[in-house]
This record gives sequence, structure tokens and C-alpha cells, in this order.
Amino acid sequence: MKKLLLSGFILVSLLSCKDNEAPKTYYTGSATQAILDNMLTRRSIRKYTDQQVSQEQIDTIMKSAIFAPSALNKQPWEIRVIQNPKILAEINQRFLNFAEGKEMQGSAAKYKEPGFSIFHHAPTLIVMAIDKSNPTAKLDAGISLQNILLSAHALNLGTCPLGSLVTALNLPENQDLLKLLNIPEGYEVGINIALGYPAENPKAPIRYSEKVKIIK
Ligand SMILES: Cc1cc2nc3c(=O)[nH]c(=O)nc-3n(C[C@H](O)[C@H](O)[C@H](O)COP(=O)(O)O)c2cc1C
Repeated sequence: MKKLLLSGFILVSLLSCKDNEAPKTYYTGSATQAILDNMLTRRSIRKYTDQQVSQEQIDTIMKSAIFAPSALNKQPWEIRVIQNPKILAEINQRFLNFAEGKEMQGSAAKYKEPGFSIFHHAPTLIVMAIDKSNPTAKLDAGISLQNILLSAHALNLGTCPLGSLVTALNLPENQDLLKLLNIPEGYEVGINIALGYPAENPKAPIRYSEKVKIIK
């Protein structure tokens, strides 16, 4: 009976499950299972609705971001949450200028398509800059990034890390943009994150379990 109750906590709905879509999972109980499942069901979202993320949601996500652990608690990041359409359009344009004539990888390879958006038309873009003088800054920022991805997912929001925008934003000709974002001297862009309401529910890409070995 106890087992039955426990498994009853987890209610998996397959009703809306199309071929290329992951099943939606709803929890009515077990916090442990919900936390574990949050990690497994988070996906990179590359299609967003126009609905903007609220200030309350941003506050929750940013609290998670800055509560990430960092070496010596240096918190070597500067995080900017951008919802200004003009600045977003300018960032996209700077990426297009950078990409012109180049072979790009992944979703950035589609930059020649009309209406292309390097942040997948997400209404919010998070720019995370890191202290260039801090040897663990990239690692620390990676943990903060994951906190952002997981907290947003817990709020039913979608995210996508955007490594493809990093080089473009750090170019000398784009330093004016970093100034506009109030990124301090000695910092460079470490990672960017698209954030918004998901308009797709993709399945998980393959994971390589053979990369884990247990040595007893
Ligand atoms: C550091 C980093 C950079 C990434 N850069 C991009 C990117 O520029 N554009 C994009 O669409 N996805 C990007 N991704 C998303 C990955 O493609 C994605 O995480 C991976 O395919 C696994 O899929 P999942 O996130 O749905 O589990 C990036 C992910 C990470 C961790």
C-alpha cells in the first residue's frame, strides 16, 4: 500500500506526447523525486512564446544563480538580465556581423536564414560575465549557469545556454556593448542564456553512459 502510494506521487502524462516530444511529468508528492527529475527533464529550448518572464520569476532565478558555490566564495560573475528589445536586437546584430562569411556550428550555422536570432527569439537574455583574473571563474560561472537552468525549469520556463555568442560579445569592437551593460573592466563574457516560456518540448539528446566507470 505504501509503495502504491509512493508511486502514486508521480503522475506521468503521456497524453500530449508526440513523436519528437518528451512526456510531461507532474509531481504531487516526493520532493526528492521532483528534484532529481528536474535535472533529468531540463532541456535546451530553442523555441519560445512572446510572453515575457516576470520580475518575480527573474528574482527567484537570480537568487538561485548567486547562491551557487564558488571557490573562496569570490562569486566572480557579473550577471545582466536583458529584456530591452532594442538592446536584444543590437546583440543579435553584433552576432550577425561577427558571423558573416564564417562557417558556424550548431544552431548558429543557420545565421543566414531570414529572421535568425542567436538567442532563439527568447524575450529575455542573460549575459554572465566573469572575472578574467580569477582562475576558477569559468567553473564557478558554470555552476551558477546550471542553477539558472534548473531554477527556470522548476518554474516551467525554458532556457538555452548560448556559447556561440561568447566570442562575438568579447570582440574589441563590441566593448561598447559591454559598457552599456555595465560590465566592469577586467571582466569578459563567460556564457549567455536564453530565457522564456517554452514553445517546444524536445526529447533529450543521447547521453553516453559508458563515460561513467565505477571503480571498486
Ligand atoms: C556551454 C554550453 C554552450 C552551449 N551553446 C549553445 C548555443 O550556442 N546554441 C544552442 O542552441 N545550444 C547551445 N548549448 C546547448 C547544448 O547544445 C545542449 O545542452 C546539449 O545538446 C544537450 O541538450 P539538453 O540541454 O537539451 O540536455 C550549449 C550548452 C552548453 C552547456
